[in-house]
Amino acid sequence: MDTIAFNRLYHIVTFGCQMNKADSERMAGILENMGFERSPDPNQADLIVYNTCTIRDNAEQKVYSYLGRQAKRKHNEPNLTLVVAGCVAQQEGEALLRRVPELDLVMGPQHANRLEDLLQQVFDGNQVVATETVHIVEDITKPRRDSTVTAWVNVIYGCNERCTYCVVPNVRGVEQSRTPEAIRAEMEQLGRLGYKEITLLGQNIDAYGRDLPGTTPEGRHLHTLTDLLYYVHDVPTIERIRFATSHPRYFTERLIKACAELPKVCEHFHIPFQSGDNEILKQMSRGYTQEKYRRIIDTVRRYMPDASISADTIVGFPGETEAQFENTLQLVTDIEFDHLNTAAYSPRPGTPAALWDNQLSEEVKSDRLQRLNHLVNVQAERRNQRYLNRTEEVLVEDQNPKDPSQVMGRTRGNRLTFFTGNISQLRGKLVRVKITDARAFSLTGEIVQPGYLGQEKMASYSL
Ligand code: SAH
Ligand code: SF4
Ligand code: F3S
Repeated sequence: MDTIAFNRLYHIVTFGCQMNKADSERMAGILENMGFERSPDPNQADLIVYNTCTIRDNAEQKVYSYLGRQAKRKHNEPNLTLVVAGCVAQQEGEALLRRVPELDLVMGPQHANRLEDLLQQVFDGNQVVATETVHIVEDITKPRRDSTVTAWVNVIYGCNERCTYCVVPNVRGVEQSRTPEAIRAEMEQLGRLGYKEITLLGQNIDAYGRDLPGTTPEGRHLHTLTDLLYYVHDVPTIERIRFATSHPRYFTERLIKACAELPKVCEHFHIPFQSGDNEILKQMSRGYTQEKYRRIIDTVRRYMPDASISADTIVGFPGETEAQFENTLQLVTDIEFDHLNTAAYSPRPGTPAALWDNQLSEEVKSDRLQRLNHLVNVQAERRNQRYLNRTEEVLVEDQNPKDPSQVMGRTRGNRLTFFTGNISQLRGKLVRVKITDARAFSLTGEIVQPGYLGQEKMASYSL
């Protein structure tokens, strides 16, 4: 311990998905527990953590350009500690040290909770690489969360799927579910701290519980995502529960029914389909057909007609023909998503599809991406019009950074919504907002009296 000078400043840069954001909050908690203080400016910091993503090549390249700048700074400030965490760290391991010898610590995502230990080794004078497979130990540290209203709670780490384009199983390891008790305890603690919304996280959250012991008399796993929702839905003072990411292969009617039944579970589903063409889905090893995907969405909408549905999709997968791409356009046209993340296929090291010889040119991929994005934008704008003149429940999260007279929050369907109001009175409150303007990606409205809903009902409030 004696080598750590206190009041030192840290800075974390986070790339990638919600799992990385959740890991960064845990690492920030560990650093603050060690006596570090947060610095908004990386150039003032004594320790910088890059929590990296390698899902596509451009995500990975971003890291190298950031790192280059700080590696240079280290030549003049040798006490600067540089850490690369996350998925690039896991993928590259030792190779990262050869590429950027100024690095002090390279640590995979499974080691996030061990940051203090690993830094001790660094402060003892070692250059450390921690990428071996470990069983993730239950986190006893307190994360430093970015929000005071919404929080992420991991329920399952890793992924056992083998989608042929995807690096995640290589970098995040095999599935490890947390126990329902540990998850509920974390949620209860968040409730006591005043958090109102929780998003349960997993790369393939429908796999939750498959690795936990126990089966029902019918031979079903004792712990499933559906059972978990029933188990945690009544955590006091938590008003909303979401979960992501769902896999169409395992998305059950039982789960849909639970979401319809449990009032705190939001009608918001993130179910990536990746392609609207059966042959491509097969090449991707996704394990479902586009017909099955459509049936899932139909079932969701039968139980919850207004459910918000978002997804991810890839264009330009190896061998994708124009006609196969058009099947994706058709699926998008038919389903009308509330939100769609689109990406051009990027060959990733260590994945089967990267080695195939039927790769498409960058021109074809970017042309398809543009065409799809155009469709998505037109659709999003049209679809958002349905909110016009409706009254929506909004959970207020923050001030609008572009207009301090406004606050912002999300509807149950996860639509970003702005309205006039005072953040010091409204933060963390559920309010009813009448929507007066609907754009492609956000809404504007005005508060409806009485302002508060749910457990926060306070009739005395006036604007
Ligand atoms: N577990 C989730 C998503 C994980 S990665 C699922 O199964 O759907 C997030 C998204 O990145 C994926 O949904 C996919 O659309 C995209 N993606 C993953 N690998 C990619 C690659 N090699 N090229 C382009 N996009 C990719
Ligand atoms: Fe990747 Fe497939 Fe796992 Fe999603 S389910 S993380 S796409 S391997
Ligand atoms: Fe990226 Fe790793 Fe998430 S590769 S998308 S940060 S799991």
